[in-house]
Amino acid sequence: MSGCIRFILNEQEIETGDFGPTDTLLDYLRLNRRLTGTKEGCAEGDCGACTVLVGRLVGGRLVYEGVNACIRFLGSLNATHIVTVEHLAAKDGALHPVQKAMVDCHGSQCGFCTPGFVMSLYGLWLANPKPSREEIERALQGNLCRCTGYEAIIKAAEQASL
Ligand code: FES
Ligand code: FES
Repeated sequence: MSGCIRFILNEQEIETGDFGPTDTLLDYLRLNRRLTGTKEGCAEGDCGACTVLVGRLVGGRLVYEGVNACIRFLGSLNATHIVTVEHLAAKDGALHPVQKAMVDCHGSQCGFCTPGFVMSLYGLWLANPKPSREEIERALQGNLCRCTGYEAIIKAAEQASL
């Protein structure tokens, strides 16, 4: 027990003290909440497969940043909004424009890296719906893909911003 924290996970308010000081957000999402869309690749902050968004109130508005859930301790997330890939599709199953663009542009092959890329692109889309190619590349610099060669993913980012 390391004190109680409160946060919003996707659309659910959560209050918990049931975690240790080194419990990661990734383990919490996958093992405790069964939100397995967030993947574990390297488990040391290098590959971006575990990318989620964490929103904090800044000057009265929520500002989101992409974080590597594998190296973020759950206990550091009091008063945040945590957004995982499960949050993106609409209730009727319709894909978010970023997800649809990834499908349309063949931005996914084996798919292991895809949720992380989608979350980085979603974070960019929230902050800047019309990014330049340079801004897209910068937003994706923490995500690794062994299959696609990146061009299809960048194309998807451009399509999502149209
Ligand atoms: Fe690779 Fe988190 S699993 S950065
Ligand atoms: Fe296989 Fe990216 S699609 S690692």
